[in-house]
Amino acid sequence: MRLPGLIDPHVHLREPGATHKEDWDTGTSAALAGGFTLVLAMPNTQPPVTDAATLNMALDAARSKARCDYAQFLGAGPDNADWDRPTGLPLQAAGLKMYLDQTYGPLRLDDMTLWQEHFKHWPKERPIVAHAESRTMAAVILMAAIYDRPVHIAHVSLREEIMLIKAAKERGIKVTCEVTPHHLFLSQDDIPALSGATAGSVVEERPSAATVQKTVGVRSGQSEVRPRLATKEDVDALWQNLDVIDCFATDHAPHTLAEKDGENPPPGFPGLETMLPLLLTAVDAGPFGFAQGRLLTLDDLIQKMVINPRRIFSLPEQPETWVEVDENATYEIRAAQTHSRCGWTPFEGWQVKGRVRKVVLRGKTAFEDGKVLVEPGYGRNIREK
Ligand code: NCD
Ligand code: ZN
Ligand code: ZN
Repeated sequence: MRLPGLIDPHVHLREPGATHKEDWDTGTSAALAGGFTLVLAMPNTQPPVTDAATLNMALDAARSKARCDYAQFLGAGPDNADWDRPTGLPLQAAGLKMYLDQTYGPLRLDDMTLWQEHFKHWPKERPIVAHAESRTMAAVILMAAIYDRPVHIAHVSLREEIMLIKAAKERGIKVTCEVTPHHLFLSQDDIPALSGATAGSVVEERPSAATVQKTVGVRSGQSEVRPRLATKEDVDALWQNLDVIDCFATDHAPHTLAEKDGENPPPGFPGLETMLPLLLTAVDAGPFGFAQGRLLTLDDLIQKMVINPRRIFSLPEQPETWVEVDENATYEIRAAQTHSRCGWTPFEGWQVKGRVRKVVLRGKTAFEDGKVLVEPGYGRNIREK
């Protein structure tokens, strides 16, 4: 079966600054292995990407190391909202990322007057993406309404969030959203197993790593992710409202196993190499009992992983680009077989149906039978003229 090259609008490639977790080479290799030919990289690096100097740091690394196509987000900070200066900087970026709740990295904006400054000055022809959970999400949707410009909500995980986005869309507010595979396939019921505990341990609602550690007495970093894994009811609500979800995005957020199992584990799951097989398995079998009545179709996948992200983020078509999938291949997910540097996956041992066999990117075979075949530097910055 042949699919178009997939687009992941939300990945963390960790370069500059944390290349022991991932870099432009390993991250884009993982992308190709997962069927992605274009990824949009987040700015919460070290240093964070917030101006011309740091954007060039990231893009210089990408130029020599990326194996698939890409663009880089700029991050909204306390003193860089003057985007309409004649630098043209925003046009060189994938879009503007606003971190409005606590997550990994230093970029976080609390003051809503700063949000307004960014909404006022960021050019309308480039997207704004917000990490905004629950009531913070409601607040940023209000900004979009006030300034009458689009906002894209990252990693929606809660029933109350998807219902609010649905209502906002019905009112004509320009809001779009993405959902990650881990919020579709995992709930807080999986936290004990991810933490290495036996199933059935009781944990409170939306527990923190520290709470799980106290409750089940194990290392729990491998269940830490932002937004936190939610309830089964939240997961069901996402499956029930697939038509409200514009994109599937991995939020590929690699941290090493040592970091995940250590003190103060950083939040984040890798996802580039497991999203397509998980979704294809859901298409094939019905989503593991989660979706009562709502089935995912192949057409949904193409809409949410190619057509919609291309429109929302103003991305070009990639000529002579496609993915060959063996839709009948059944196998177990194994971190040992992945290309990401982080070395683990929350889906270890999951049985999936549907394997990426070959990826052709701009006329060249970029991946085939487990091997990445294009050199570092083959990837292009799609924002470069
Ligand atoms: C992300 C990371 O590690 O950079 N972590 C996460 O849990 N999702 C940050 C983010 O996307 O919020
Ligand atoms: Zn986030
Ligand atoms: Zn993220």
